[in-house]
Amino acid sequence: MAKGSAAMAAAVVVLVALLCAPAAGELERLEHPAKNDGSLSVLVVGDWGRKGTYNQSRVAEQMGKVGEQLDIDFVISTGDNFYENGLTGTDDQAFEQSFTDIYTAKSLQKPWYLVLGNHDYRGDVLAQLSPVLQKIDSRFICKRSFIVNAEIVDFFFVDTTPFQLKYWTHPKDDHYDWRGVAPREKYLANLLKDLDEAIKKSTATWKIAVGHHTMRSVSDHGDTEELLKLLLPVLQANGVNFYINGHDHCLEHISSKDRLTSI
Ligand SMILES: *[C@@H]1O[C@H](CO)[C@@H](O)[C@H](O)[C@H]1NC(C)=O
Repeated sequence: MAKGSAAMAAAVVVLVALLCAPAAGELERLEHPAKNDGSLSVLVVGDWGRKGTYNQSRVAEQMGKVGEQLDIDFVISTGDNFYENGLTGTDDQAFEQSFTDIYTAKSLQKPWYLVLGNHDYRGDVLAQLSPVLQKIDSRFICKRSFIVNAEIVDFFFVDTTPFQLKYWTHPKDDHYDWRGVAPREKYLANLLKDLDEAIKKSTATWKIAVGHHTMRSVSDHGDTEELLKLLLPVLQANGVNFYINGHDHCLEHISSKDRLTSI
Protein backbone atom coordinates (compact mmCIF):
# COMPACT_ATOMS: atom_id res chain seq x y z
CA MET A 1 0.00 0.00 0.00
CA ALA A 2 2.77 2.36 0.98
CA LYS A 3 4.62 1.40 -2.22
CA GLY A 4 1.43 1.89 -4.24
CA SER A 5 0.89 5.41 -2.99
CA ALA A 6 4.56 6.25 -3.54
CA ALA A 7 4.20 5.08 -7.15
CA MET A 8 1.01 7.10 -7.45
CA ALA A 9 2.78 10.17 -6.07
CA ALA A 10 5.59 9.66 -8.58
CA ALA A 11 3.08 9.35 -11.40
CA VAL A 12 1.39 12.54 -10.29
CA VAL A 13 4.74 14.33 -10.17
CA VAL A 14 5.57 13.19 -13.72
CA LEU A 15 2.15 14.29 -14.95
CA VAL A 16 2.50 17.67 -13.29
CA ALA A 17 5.97 18.05 -14.82
CA LEU A 18 4.54 17.26 -18.27
CA LEU A 19 1.75 19.80 -17.82
CA CYS A 20 4.07 22.52 -16.56
CA ALA A 21 6.97 22.13 -18.95
CA PRO A 22 5.97 22.92 -22.51
CA ALA A 23 7.27 20.03 -24.62
CA ALA A 24 9.12 20.44 -27.90
CA GLY A 25 7.01 19.69 -30.92
CA GLU A 26 6.32 20.98 -34.35
CA LEU A 27 5.29 24.60 -34.65
CA GLU A 28 1.71 24.97 -35.78
CA ARG A 29 1.56 25.72 -39.48
CA LEU A 30 -1.26 27.66 -41.12
CA GLU A 31 -1.72 27.88 -44.87
CA HIS A 32 -2.72 31.09 -46.58
CA PRO A 33 -2.82 30.93 -50.39
CA ALA A 34 -1.13 33.70 -52.39
CA LYS A 35 -2.94 35.48 -55.21
CA ASN A 36 -3.49 33.67 -58.53
CA ASP A 37 -0.38 35.32 -59.98
CA GLY A 38 1.67 34.09 -57.00
CA SER A 39 2.06 37.53 -55.44
CA LEU A 40 1.16 38.48 -51.90
CA SER A 41 0.43 41.76 -50.22
CA VAL A 42 0.21 42.33 -46.47
CA LEU A 43 -0.02 45.17 -43.98
CA VAL A 44 1.95 45.06 -40.73
CA VAL A 45 0.92 46.97 -37.62
CA GLY A 46 2.10 46.82 -34.02
CA ASP A 47 1.49 48.49 -30.65
CA TRP A 48 -2.08 49.53 -31.38
CA GLY A 49 -4.98 48.72 -29.01
CA ARG A 50 -5.97 52.09 -27.53
CA LYS A 51 -9.77 52.10 -27.95
CA GLY A 52 -9.29 54.51 -30.85
CA THR A 53 -7.22 57.06 -28.92
CA TYR A 54 -3.57 57.99 -29.61
CA ASN A 55 -4.70 58.37 -33.23
CA GLN A 56 -5.37 54.63 -33.52
CA SER A 57 -8.61 55.34 -35.41
CA ARG A 58 -6.83 57.64 -37.84
CA VAL A 59 -4.16 55.06 -38.54
CA ALA A 60 -6.91 52.45 -38.98
CA GLU A 61 -8.62 54.66 -41.56
CA GLN A 62 -5.40 55.03 -43.55
CA MET A 63 -4.73 51.30 -43.27
CA GLY A 64 -8.16 50.76 -44.81
CA LYS A 65 -7.25 52.97 -47.79
CA VAL A 66 -3.82 51.48 -48.33
CA GLY A 67 -5.22 48.00 -47.86
CA GLU A 68 -7.71 48.71 -50.64
CA GLN A 69 -5.03 50.04 -53.01
CA LEU A 70 -2.71 47.11 -52.39
CA ASP A 71 -5.53 44.54 -52.34
CA ILE A 72 -4.01 43.00 -49.23
CA ASP A 73 -4.23 39.31 -48.44
CA PHE A 74 -3.90 39.59 -44.68
CA VAL A 75 -2.67 41.74 -41.80
CA ILE A 76 0.20 40.95 -39.43
CA SER A 77 0.34 42.32 -35.90
CA THR A 78 3.69 42.43 -34.14
CA GLY A 79 2.04 42.53 -30.69
CA ASP A 80 1.11 44.93 -27.90
CA ASN A 81 -2.39 44.33 -29.17
CA PHE A 82 -4.15 45.80 -26.13
CA TYR A 83 -2.83 48.61 -23.90
CA GLU A 84 -1.94 48.98 -21.10
CA ASN A 85 -2.37 45.52 -19.67
CA GLY A 86 -3.61 43.15 -22.38
CA LEU A 87 -7.13 41.77 -21.97
CA THR A 88 -8.71 41.01 -18.59
CA GLY A 89 -10.47 37.97 -20.10
CA THR A 90 -12.29 36.86 -23.23
CA ASP A 91 -15.24 39.03 -22.15
CA ASP A 92 -13.11 42.21 -21.99
CA GLN A 93 -14.91 44.87 -24.04
CA ALA A 94 -11.49 46.22 -25.08
CA PHE A 95 -11.45 43.46 -27.69
CA GLU A 96 -14.32 45.07 -29.57
CA GLN A 97 -13.39 48.65 -28.63
CA SER A 98 -9.77 48.34 -29.78
CA PHE A 99 -10.11 45.84 -32.61
CA THR A 100 -13.54 44.99 -34.06
CA ASP A 101 -14.98 48.51 -33.85
CA ILE A 102 -11.78 50.19 -35.10
CA TYR A 103 -10.60 48.17 -38.11
CA THR A 104 -13.91 48.42 -39.94
CA ALA A 105 -12.64 49.17 -43.47
CA LYS A 106 -13.62 46.62 -46.07
CA SER A 107 -10.00 45.88 -47.03
CA LEU A 108 -9.17 44.96 -43.42
CA GLN A 109 -11.81 42.22 -43.22
CA LYS A 110 -9.08 39.63 -43.77
CA PRO A 111 -7.32 37.29 -41.37
CA TRP A 112 -5.10 39.02 -38.85
CA TYR A 113 -2.13 36.93 -37.69
CA LEU A 114 -0.95 38.21 -34.34
CA VAL A 115 1.83 37.60 -31.83
CA LEU A 116 1.87 38.80 -28.23
CA GLY A 117 3.83 41.78 -26.93
CA ASN A 118 5.00 42.53 -23.39
CA HIS A 119 1.84 44.55 -22.65
CA ASP A 120 -0.30 41.57 -23.65
CA TYR A 121 1.55 39.45 -21.09
CA ARG A 122 0.45 41.85 -18.35
CA GLY A 123 -3.16 40.75 -18.68
CA ASP A 124 -4.88 37.38 -19.07
CA VAL A 125 -2.56 36.07 -21.74
CA LEU A 126 -4.64 32.96 -22.36
CA ALA A 127 -7.63 35.12 -23.29
CA GLN A 128 -5.88 36.46 -26.38
CA LEU A 129 -4.96 32.93 -27.42
CA SER A 130 -8.49 31.63 -26.84
CA PRO A 131 -10.70 30.49 -29.72
CA VAL A 132 -13.55 32.31 -27.95
CA LEU A 133 -12.27 35.57 -29.47
CA GLN A 134 -12.50 34.09 -32.95
CA LYS A 135 -16.20 33.50 -32.33
CA ILE A 136 -16.58 37.21 -31.62
CA ASP A 137 -14.38 38.30 -34.55
CA SER A 138 -13.11 35.54 -36.84
CA ARG A 139 -10.24 37.71 -38.14
CA PHE A 140 -8.29 37.46 -34.86
CA ILE A 141 -5.73 34.62 -35.09
CA CYS A 142 -3.31 35.07 -32.19
CA LYS A 143 -0.83 32.39 -31.18
CA ARG A 144 2.49 32.28 -29.37
CA SER A 145 4.84 30.92 -32.07
CA PHE A 146 3.61 29.56 -35.38
CA ILE A 147 4.12 29.56 -39.14
CA VAL A 148 2.00 31.08 -41.87
CA ASN A 149 2.85 29.58 -45.23
CA ALA A 150 1.75 31.86 -48.05
CA GLU A 151 3.40 29.92 -50.89
CA ILE A 152 6.23 32.30 -51.90
CA VAL A 153 6.88 33.19 -48.28
CA ASP A 154 6.94 31.46 -44.91
CA PHE A 155 6.30 33.78 -42.00
CA PHE A 156 7.80 32.56 -38.72
CA PHE A 157 5.98 34.18 -35.82
CA VAL A 158 8.05 34.17 -32.63
CA ASP A 159 6.89 34.82 -29.06
CA THR A 160 9.67 37.19 -27.98
CA THR A 161 8.49 38.46 -24.56
CA PRO A 162 9.73 35.41 -22.58
CA PHE A 163 13.26 36.01 -23.95
CA GLN A 164 13.69 39.25 -22.04
CA LEU A 165 15.02 38.52 -18.57
CA LYS A 166 13.97 41.84 -17.08
CA TYR A 167 10.28 40.91 -17.32
CA TRP A 168 10.96 37.86 -15.14
CA THR A 169 13.21 39.52 -12.62
CA HIS A 170 11.92 43.09 -12.20
CA PRO A 171 10.00 42.95 -8.93
CA LYS A 172 8.72 46.53 -9.13
CA ASP A 173 7.48 46.08 -12.67
CA ASP A 174 4.00 44.89 -13.58
CA HIS A 175 2.78 41.35 -13.18
CA TYR A 176 3.41 39.06 -16.16
CA ASP A 177 1.20 36.07 -16.90
CA TRP A 178 3.67 33.24 -17.52
CA ARG A 179 1.10 30.44 -17.63
CA GLY A 180 2.18 27.95 -20.30
CA VAL A 181 5.64 29.52 -20.52
CA ALA A 182 7.50 28.99 -17.24
CA PRO A 183 10.14 27.75 -16.70
CA ARG A 184 11.79 30.19 -19.09
CA GLU A 185 14.92 28.18 -20.02
CA LYS A 186 12.94 25.11 -21.02
CA TYR A 187 10.40 27.15 -22.98
CA LEU A 188 13.11 29.01 -24.92
CA ALA A 189 15.15 25.88 -25.60
CA ASN A 190 12.10 24.09 -27.04
CA LEU A 191 11.00 27.14 -29.01
CA LEU A 192 14.43 27.65 -30.58
CA LYS A 193 14.69 23.96 -31.44
CA ASP A 194 11.23 23.90 -33.05
CA LEU A 195 11.97 27.09 -34.93
CA ASP A 196 15.31 25.81 -36.19
CA GLU A 197 13.67 22.63 -37.48
CA ALA A 198 10.77 24.49 -39.06
CA ILE A 199 12.97 27.01 -40.90
CA LYS A 200 15.28 24.22 -42.11
CA LYS A 201 12.26 22.46 -43.63
CA SER A 202 10.99 25.60 -45.35
CA THR A 203 11.17 25.58 -49.14
CA ALA A 204 9.58 29.02 -49.57
CA THR A 205 11.52 31.62 -51.60
CA TRP A 206 11.23 34.14 -48.76
CA LYS A 207 11.61 33.41 -45.09
CA ILE A 208 10.47 36.21 -42.83
CA ALA A 209 10.50 36.22 -39.02
CA VAL A 210 8.01 38.28 -37.03
CA GLY A 211 8.26 39.15 -33.34
CA HIS A 212 7.37 41.94 -30.95
CA HIS A 213 10.74 43.02 -29.61
CA THR A 214 13.56 44.81 -31.33
CA MET A 215 16.60 42.83 -32.33
CA ARG A 216 18.68 45.87 -33.29
CA SER A 217 17.29 49.33 -32.61
CA VAL A 218 18.45 52.93 -32.69
CA SER A 219 15.35 54.08 -30.83
CA ASP A 220 13.92 54.03 -27.28
CA HIS A 221 14.41 50.40 -26.37
CA GLY A 222 17.75 49.76 -28.05
CA ASP A 223 18.94 46.27 -28.91
CA THR A 224 17.45 43.26 -27.16
CA GLU A 225 20.54 41.36 -26.05
CA GLU A 226 18.71 38.09 -25.39
CA LEU A 227 17.34 38.04 -28.96
CA LEU A 228 20.75 38.86 -30.45
CA LYS A 229 22.28 36.04 -28.46
CA LEU A 230 19.60 33.36 -28.79
CA LEU A 231 17.27 34.08 -31.71
CA LEU A 232 19.45 35.87 -34.28
CA PRO A 233 21.87 32.92 -34.76
CA VAL A 234 18.95 30.60 -35.57
CA LEU A 235 17.55 33.03 -38.12
CA GLN A 236 20.97 33.68 -39.67
CA ALA A 237 21.99 30.03 -39.85
CA ASN A 238 18.84 29.22 -41.77
CA GLY A 239 18.85 32.07 -44.28
CA VAL A 240 15.92 34.08 -42.93
CA ASN A 241 15.68 37.19 -45.11
CA PHE A 242 14.39 39.65 -42.57
CA TYR A 243 12.85 40.19 -39.17
CA ILE A 244 9.84 42.44 -38.62
CA ASN A 245 9.17 43.80 -35.13
CA GLY A 246 7.26 46.39 -33.12
CA HIS A 247 7.97 47.65 -29.57
CA ASP A 248 9.72 50.85 -30.66
CA HIS A 249 6.96 53.19 -31.77
CA CYS A 250 8.77 54.43 -34.83
CA LEU A 251 9.87 53.34 -38.29
CA GLU A 252 13.36 51.93 -38.66
CA HIS A 253 15.03 49.94 -41.41
CA ILE A 254 18.24 48.30 -40.30
CA SER A 255 20.37 46.23 -42.63
CA SER A 256 23.55 44.38 -41.83
CA LYS A 257 26.51 43.00 -43.75
CA ASP A 258 25.58 39.51 -42.67
CA ARG A 259 22.33 39.68 -44.61
CA LEU A 260 19.57 39.75 -42.01
CA THR A 261 17.54 42.92 -42.19
CA SER A 262 15.12 44.21 -39.51
CA ILE A 263 12.17 46.46 -40.10
C1 LIG B 1 -2.77 62.72 -33.22
O1 LIG B 1 -2.32 63.25 -34.43
C2 LIG B 1 -2.23 64.65 -34.46
C3 LIG B 1 -1.92 65.09 -35.88
O2 LIG B 1 -0.87 64.37 -36.45
C4 LIG B 1 -1.19 65.10 -33.47
O3 LIG B 1 -1.09 66.50 -33.44
C5 LIG B 1 -1.59 64.60 -32.08
O4 LIG B 1 -0.57 64.88 -31.16
C6 LIG B 1 -1.84 63.10 -32.09
N1 LIG B 1 -2.41 62.71 -30.81
C7 LIG B 1 -1.86 61.79 -30.03
C8 LIG B 1 -2.56 61.54 -28.73
O5 LIG B 1 -0.86 61.18 -30.32
